[in-house]
Amino acid sequence: MDSTSHLTESDHVAGQYASTDNLRTRRSVWGPGPEGVSPVDVLRTLVLSSRPRRVIEIGCGTGQFARSILDQEPNIDYVATDLSPAMVEAARALGVTAEVASSDVLPFGDGTCDGAVAAWMLYHVPDLDGTLRELRRVLRDGGTLHVATNGREHLSGLLREAGGEPLVTQFMSENAAEVLGRHFEHVAQRDVETRATFADHAAASAYLATFSPELAQSLPHFEGPRTYAGHTAVLSAH
Ligand SMILES: C[S@@+](CC[C@H](N)C(=O)[O-])C[C@H]1O[C@@H](n2cnc3c(N)ncnc32)[C@H](O)[C@@H]1O
Repeated sequence: MDSTSHLTESDHVAGQYASTDNLRTRRSVWGPGPEGVSPVDVLRTLVLSSRPRRVIEIGCGTGQFARSILDQEPNIDYVATDLSPAMVEAARALGVTAEVASSDVLPFGDGTCDGAVAAWMLYHVPDLDGTLRELRRVLRDGGTLHVATNGREHLSGLLREAGGEPLVTQFMSENAAEVLGRHFEHVAQRDVETRATFADHAAASAYLATFSPELAQSLPHFEGPRTYAGHTAVLSAH
């Protein structure tokens, strides 16, 4: 087993997202990079500019992205889904229509969606091509899939300082276009550099602890705040 194969293991994924805490801790540190934009802003602009009437999101997490779309376009019929009941509950608490669903068996008919969103989740699914086939199935002809993911060097400065290695996943900036190209004719990618800011060593260690208690423990002490680069990609496919 390689060092990152646990990322797609169902027990690991279920444990990681059994509550919203890990995701909220990680998300709180991210801000725009040198271009002044965050990948979430880029993703939102792409979804809205495609003017969809019906959108399905898979792996919606706490539903913040769905909420931000609906705040701008309340008439979109937006259904958020996630494997984790805790995430679905959090999304519903934001007023988002949300359902528990595994990304490879979606409760929607063929060709019923104009848009689909998969943000920072395709590196977790055990059957990546099965999920992409399912997204292709629920999208109408010409409907667009919007995705976001991380690159190989994402947060590698912090990981290396803690004695770890960059995270190699099944769906990274470096291979995402090729993977999507197996199911969609047209794929466009924008790489977006982002920034993680930690107020102090404890905050950086707490971040690492959300996925690796070992790395959290081995992070050498430092004083004051620190900032690290993140490397993400936002892609659209139809
Ligand atoms: C890293 S979080 C991203 C959440 C959200 N999209 C965001 O950007 O904040 C990954 C999410 O995918 C969900 N997930 C993982 N595997 C899944 C699967 N096979 N089907 C549906 N959701 C899944 C997890 O429960 C978790 O909420």
